[in-house]
Amino acid sequence: MSIETQIVYPHTTVRAMMLVIDRAPIKLCILVDLEGKLARTVVDGDLRRSLLAGISMDSPASDLPAQDVVSCLAATPQNELMTTFINNPSVNAIVLIDKTRRPVGLVPRAEIFSSILLSPPHMGLSESNYVRKAFDDNWIAPAGPNLNAFEVALREASGRAHTLALSSGTAALHLALRVLGVGVGDAVYVSDLTFAATLQPVLYQNALPVLIDSEPQSWNMSPVALERRLARDATNGCLPKALIVVHLYGQSADMGAILALTEQYGVPIIEDAAESLGASYGNRPSGAHGLLSAYSFNGNKIITTSSGGALVSDREDLIERARMLSTQGRDPAEHYQHSHIAYNYRMSNVLAGIGLGQLELLQDRVARRCTIFETYRAGLDDIRGISFQDELADSRGNRWLTVITLDPDLISRHPYQLLRELRSKGIESRPAWKPMHMQPICAGYGFEPHSHTDVVSSRLFFQSLCLPSGSTLSDEQQQRVIACVREFAKG
Ligand SMILES: Cc1ncc(COP(=O)(O)O)c(C=O)c1O
Repeated sequence: MSIETQIVYPHTTVRAMMLVIDRAPIKLCILVDLEGKLARTVVDGDLRRSLLAGISMDSPASDLPAQDVVSCLAATPQNELMTTFINNPSVNAIVLIDKTRRPVGLVPRAEIFSSILLSPPHMGLSESNYVRKAFDDNWIAPAGPNLNAFEVALREASGRAHTLALSSGTAALHLALRVLGVGVGDAVYVSDLTFAATLQPVLYQNALPVLIDSEPQSWNMSPVALERRLARDATNGCLPKALIVVHLYGQSADMGAILALTEQYGVPIIEDAAESLGASYGNRPSGAHGLLSAYSFNGNKIITTSSGGALVSDREDLIERARMLSTQGRDPAEHYQHSHIAYNYRMSNVLAGIGLGQLELLQDRVARRCTIFETYRAGLDDIRGISFQDELADSRGNRWLTVITLDPDLISRHPYQLLRELRSKGIESRPAWKPMHMQPICAGYGFEPHSHTDVVSSRLFFQSLCLPSGSTLSDEQQQRVIACVREFAKG
């Protein structure tokens, strides 16, 4: 936004400043010193207070008291501007300056907060009522009626008989490993293409991850790689103690093939369904196939409790053991006795109230994200070189995030260039997860590729970008994103 008409000088009078503010699109003027460097901003209220304090309409700006001004360098990224606004709640515009402190632009608060975000929280109408009830009843604790009701409601959404609400999806995965007895030196197979939270709990247990590559259709664990690895490890007598399969970006893994293989070798499955609540595989919800499953309700998920997670299973004994471990593992006695190393992992009754309201909206949220996916597909499908994460037959994803791949043979520019172009227009996008076998924390651990000529997970990482997919995304905003991607693809 051009700011020339809003710049005033030490000799500019109060009257002239009032005229500038009156005509300006953002209601302030920018006072610079005699070298043109930013001194302060002046708004109506500053002038009113100064007039009341005794200066006149003809007094110069230099008579105004000095005042701190919120400014940022011109190249400051969108997220840092957002943080600056959050830290300065009374500021309505940030002055952009060059390296010599000369003002070069002005960013209004509304512009930053109307940015298009990747997957922001989307509250309904009843969440605050449940939270209010927690306050009214003084159930401000990791126990209470909201928590109980949330666990009951989650049974239906997950298709599981037993549910345990926790402080995060990571905690759910950690407890899953604990109740399966995974410990020091045990091998655990893990989907390679995932967020680090899938893997971290394996490392908490000092177990040894073996990373299984993706297959190209759904991007999830490759049954081909899994079969090869299981056969080899069975021959060598080192089968894993458990397997964690991820349903990436809300799309189901090939559970039919994976279950058949793990049953053959007697390996229990933990489903990392953090991203796939509301999706389905066969005629059951995603997360209703393995022995245990973890969901996440962090702020960017399809429904959220701000932070939170759940462990679910049809095995009551496993969930009850996890429940005990989630509350410091107290033995059944009047006094405080502990025979197990345990955790403080329970969800708060206040946050469960948010979850109750959000669960009521799950199907709406899934439907909206699926529409967003279809709109991206319709808007971009004709561009040679752009393709989408696919859905397996017999599964229905929740399309938590729409992710595109750019074929480098047809689109010469890298996805990060698209990311930067979107960012310059106030649109947030994200790289695909970086595969675990490429992560420093996984150096030295096993990795099984899909084929010896094609590592699918790293190819997807280098070629993909997650587009804004939140259920709050308006049609107009989505068309802005599509237009920007189309412009980029033209080269
Ligand atoms: C695939 C995957 N697994 C696990 C998690 C961990 O969930 P949380 O952030 O609730 O700990 C997340 C989300 O962050 C995720 O995307």
